[in-house]
Amino acid sequence: MVNDCFKVKSGSALSGTTTVPGDKSISHRAVMFGAMGKGTTQVRGWLAAGDTEASLATIQALGIQVDRHSQHELTIHGGKFQPPTGALNLVNAGTGIRLIAGIMCGQPFESVLDGSEQLRRRPMKRVITPLQMMGANINGTNDRAPLTIKPAQMQGIKYNMPVASAQVKSAVLLAGLFAKGATAVVQPGPARDHTERMLSAMGADIAADGDTVVVRPNGELRPMDLTVPSDISSAAFPLVAALIVPDSDITLTGINLNPTRTGLLDVLKAMGADLTVTETGLEAGEPVGTIRARHSVLKGTQVGGKVVVEMIDEFPILMVAALAAEGETVVRDAQELRVKETDRIAVMAGELAKLGAQITETPDGFIIKGPQKLKAATVYGHDDHRVSMSLSVAALIAEGETTVMDARCAGDSFPGFAETLAGLGAHIGVEVLA
Ligand code: S3P
Repeated sequence: MVNDCFKVKSGSALSGTTTVPGDKSISHRAVMFGAMGKGTTQVRGWLAAGDTEASLATIQALGIQVDRHSQHELTIHGGKFQPPTGALNLVNAGTGIRLIAGIMCGQPFESVLDGSEQLRRRPMKRVITPLQMMGANINGTNDRAPLTIKPAQMQGIKYNMPVASAQVKSAVLLAGLFAKGATAVVQPGPARDHTERMLSAMGADIAADGDTVVVRPNGELRPMDLTVPSDISSAAFPLVAALIVPDSDITLTGINLNPTRTGLLDVLKAMGADLTVTETGLEAGEPVGTIRARHSVLKGTQVGGKVVVEMIDEFPILMVAALAAEGETVVRDAQELRVKETDRIAVMAGELAKLGAQITETPDGFIIKGPQKLKAATVYGHDDHRVSMSLSVAALIAEGETTVMDARCAGDSFPGFAETLAGLGAHIGVEVLA
């Protein structure tokens, strides 16, 4: 897909204080879980982006009334879901389809979950298998979307999750709310825990003990009143931009600092990044704070093991930081990157090569020897928001003017991405194509 493009020039430092839009993971959950709460849920700071709008439209298609006071402020009138009149369209939202699958398995009506061509290519067996083990009647086309779900009585299970995935964990726990008995998920790594935090705040009987999370159905969920903190996965782009562009010094406020999400900060610090993280309080049951990033001489590092899941969405931008760093960066255990919106290892290596980068792909990661000199070119986002944004940040250190084709998808998670960087002083503009 090719649509609007970003025009990016190097040579301008970033400075100033700003923030980024609301957390995507929490915004998906806020509308889905709010829909299940008995009463009205108030959400402020909601992320109005491609992926989350798909989740919102889905709960509305299920008969839930939502008052939209502004782009970012919603009142959700929770209650019983109604049978939808057609297939539910989750567009590009992997989180949307996998979480709603868990919820739909517990409903007394049939539903079909579908999305874009891109979503139809993504693996769904990872949710189909455990949900079927619980007794759910869920099937896919070659284990991919569209997914057809028919009513069935579910039973709690103990599920040893083979991949550290918050989406799979959440789908099983949500189905567990509608199952007989307790449902336990044993995770191989600390996948983001927003579902546990939010369900617990709604009065669900849910508890974690080490790597195991157990939910027991205990009746109605209470509604919520929450302000969504800013997304650290979006913050990652201006932060890395400031670290690699000489003379930069920026501060981002109100950022979600949930420790299951901050792996990138740990890795960047190990690379020598001048980052100051100050926790300022709690928002929506999540620690939030301010991050200051100043231009730094980065050095290569090794990434693998448990931190991978804590920064799973940040590897495309880590590649850019590694290109600017002195020495070798080696990433292992990150094979999940191959089944994101795109195969992010292959797509990023291929597109960065057009800017002159040399990246060695491995089955579960990559090796980058830096620092590398980049030169402007025309590159493509492949309808993957994090690819488009990472390439735009790489362009800030590429000599000349880079065109990032397929820029519109940045809005799947970070509407206003280019405007935010431009507001900090970067040379980036949006050119609207047909
Ligand atoms: C998410 C979980 C992660 C992440 C995605 C959001 C979530 O996916 O990549 O962007 O909100 O639960 P996986 O569970 O597939 O790792």
